[in-house]
Amino acid sequence: MAEVVLAVTGGIAAYKSIDVMRILQKRGHGVSVLLTPNAERFVTPGTFAALSGRPVGRSLFPHEEAGVVDYDHLDFARRADVVLVCPATANTLAEMAHGLAGGLVGTTLLAFDGPVLVAPAMNPRMLAHPATVANLRTLRGRGVTVIPPADGLLADGDVGAGRLADPVDVCDAVERALTSESAEGAEGTAAPSAHDLAGIRVVITAGGTQEPIDAVRFVGNRSSGKMGWAVAAEARHRGADVTVLACNVTLPRVPGITYVDTPTAADLHAATVAAMPSCDVLVMAAAVADFRPAGEAPGKIDKSGSDALELRLEKTPDILTEVTAGRRDGQVIVGFAAEHGQAGLERARAKRRRKGVDVLVHNDIARTGIGFGSDRNAITIIGPGDAEEAVAEASKAECARRIWNVVVPLARRG
Ligand code: C5P
Repeated sequence: MAEVVLAVTGGIAAYKSIDVMRILQKRGHGVSVLLTPNAERFVTPGTFAALSGRPVGRSLFPHEEAGVVDYDHLDFARRADVVLVCPATANTLAEMAHGLAGGLVGTTLLAFDGPVLVAPAMNPRMLAHPATVANLRTLRGRGVTVIPPADGLLADGDVGAGRLADPVDVCDAVERALTSESAEGAEGTAAPSAHDLAGIRVVITAGGTQEPIDAVRFVGNRSSGKMGWAVAAEARHRGADVTVLACNVTLPRVPGITYVDTPTAADLHAATVAAMPSCDVLVMAAAVADFRPAGEAPGKIDKSGSDALELRLEKTPDILTEVTAGRRDGQVIVGFAAEHGQAGLERARAKRRRKGVDVLVHNDIARTGIGFGSDRNAITIIGPGDAEEAVAEASKAECARRIWNVVVPLARRG
């Protein structure tokens, strides 16, 4: 699951960028949208704000816009894993080739050093003009991926090359760019190959369990499943055979990944134990209830006639400890631990030793605004052995890449 910044520029094909956004979302990616002033002549900020659930970037000076200031001029560059310009007009391509930053799209592109894709769409003669040809060559030379426009009848009646590529092809190109980016690895780490998990069976637990009190009430936690989803998407990108044991996660499901719903700790326990014989790497990212009501009351507990309700909670089995103790040679096991502050990091180190896992990913829940429910996280990857790697605040997709960069060599050894 990656964070895609979709820059929509002003051409008639702008309406197709709505399809592109929906497809990316269905595939599990987060999408934030930038609109140039000319794009707003074809599509409205309201459409994208409603469909993306995020503020739409419209200008370098949002405080001058009516309404709330929701972003600053570098926010989009900071949050992006990939920037897609779709459709890209001849004018935008020329601006990009010259590094012009007079608008929010140009500024975002100059401030961003990750993968950039452009999906040109324009009249065939504009596309064939030596200026546009030279601009595209310049951009390709800088590593920008150009998604070739298709041939056909254009909105202005001309026939030829210049139609925006099919939205599915555009989204495939974005995912390929993310895969090859993750294959380049993080700074200072060995570059893994794009399919370095091919043939490896990965089981990932995600979300938070809900433990029934009665037929309608439960004891739950704040886990959204986003971190587990990101770990699963990255494993799939790297070619793994991925099964997700999903605890109450409402995020979109990604084609090519197998999902098993495991709402309670008991369901997750049974499914994890059942999955272990055919699993090479287990990543326990789910927030499993440590305690659950001792016995589910039949029906709905009646509140009349009592001012208080006493719940007796019993401890749940520690799934991670149990499956780690029973693992076969070569199986790699990764746990997660949400702990508070610096003392929490120490507890996480001790937890890794106690639970016997190869790698434990610590996230500091004392930090506000990231972690539970957020698209971003800050983690410390503890293990294998004495190795430890801190990932400062980053998208959950980036955290997932860094985790796999550590785990892949262990999985391939097994
Ligand atoms: O001990 P703590 O709950 O902090 O450990 C967190 C790790 O243990 C996570 O990987 C979580 O998925 C796993 N866990 C488990 N069974 C439980 C509680 C936690 O497998 N009952």
